Amino acid sequence: MTASPLTRADCAALDAADPLAAKRGEFALPEGVIYLDGNSLGALPKRVTARMRAAVEQEWGTGLIRSWNDAGWYPAPQRTGAAIARLIGAKADEVVVCDSTSVNLYKLLRGALHMRAGRGTVVTETGNFPTDGYISQQVADETGARLVAAAPDDIPAAIARAGDDLAVVHLTQVNYRTGALYDMAAITRAAHDAGALVIWDLCHSAGTIPVDLNGCEADFAVGCGYKYLNGGPGAPSFVFVANRHQAGFRQPIAGWHGHAQPFAFGEDYTPAPGIARMLTGTAPQLGLIALEEALHVFDDVDMQALREKGQALGDLFIALVEQECAGHGFGLASPRDAARRGSQVALTHPDGYAIMQALIARGVIGDFRAPDILRFGFAGLYVRFADIRDAVATLREVMDGRLWDRPEYHARKAVT
Ligand SMILES: Cc1ncc(COP(=O)(O)O)c(C=O)c1O
Repeated sequence: MTASPLTRADCAALDAADPLAAKRGEFALPEGVIYLDGNSLGALPKRVTARMRAAVEQEWGTGLIRSWNDAGWYPAPQRTGAAIARLIGAKADEVVVCDSTSVNLYKLLRGALHMRAGRGTVVTETGNFPTDGYISQQVADETGARLVAAAPDDIPAAIARAGDDLAVVHLTQVNYRTGALYDMAAITRAAHDAGALVIWDLCHSAGTIPVDLNGCEADFAVGCGYKYLNGGPGAPSFVFVANRHQAGFRQPIAGWHGHAQPFAFGEDYTPAPGIARMLTGTAPQLGLIALEEALHVFDDVDMQALREKGQALGDLFIALVEQECAGHGFGLASPRDAARRGSQVALTHPDGYAIMQALIARGVIGDFRAPDILRFGFAGLYVRFADIRDAVATLREVMDGRLWDRPEYHARKAVT
């Protein structure tokens, strides 16, 4: 908590000094909306609209099948992967874009376990995103591996306990609920010391934290294109396989686009030599085109500056909530220390769902994660410090007037 109250002028001063302030102009944000959900669906970069029009009208409409060659569609998964590589500390030929995060997790887990045949333990975390948990369980069922889920603070101990049987450690760098951030370098080192491989899910870190996969000697990673990378709803996922593992990696879903020569139409499967073996079927071109265009927003972005802004926005949010909303029953589910937090802050409240609906009705958009978490994401490319001030002022109005306690705000929608 700061000693003197934080004022609107303090927030305006922070915006005036923000080196990333101009980036907001590159996004099409609706009037009257404070968008604090870029950790779920990134905002629309303006340049994507024109690119999509051209892709649909010219490349699809006029170019038709010729566009696979003439419009650069065929190599788009590799090209888009290379653009993401820069943001996650990977080499251009270590990342490819395809399928969903869930599907790519399956590929990585099966392939990594195959590389550690003879070992049988997979360490993962309790409270991981459900798809990570379900896929680990399914892969464990299919392979006979033993799945050990440990609390985040107990991961080093679980690694030590598994010893020589440890095959794979599978974690999400930033937790989807709490925003808690792992020490990627330390955990990767501990897993390697035990002779195991590590898979990192970067869904909540790529595009907001300067991830350093090769600096940490990471083995494998996945992440989604639709959160901080702003690729649009259901944008395809990216998958990273370190160069040293590519030649021996057995991708379990052997589709024709992962073949060494897809257009030879041979009877037998021969995997492509490099990262292309992670591909399976025909790439969703429209989704890829949107993601590739959206990534240009990062061309001139210093990821360290973006990280620092995300931390500062989170710190300001916590301080203002404590200043303005004390006594309203909120808890803090995120680490208070910004160094241990991604770019989101999670508050707890027993009436969290209704409170979030009341906020959304007033133009402050975050989201809710059962049972009691209100999530606020701070995408530093387009969220301003003044937005934090205004969002907390709205939260205070909603709480002071019990404005959330109306039947329509309690009715659960399909997507929360
Ligand atoms: C940590 C994590 N992994 C995976 C996913 C989603 O995977 P998919 O894109 O396959 O739905 C999410 C989505 O929010 C996530 O937070």
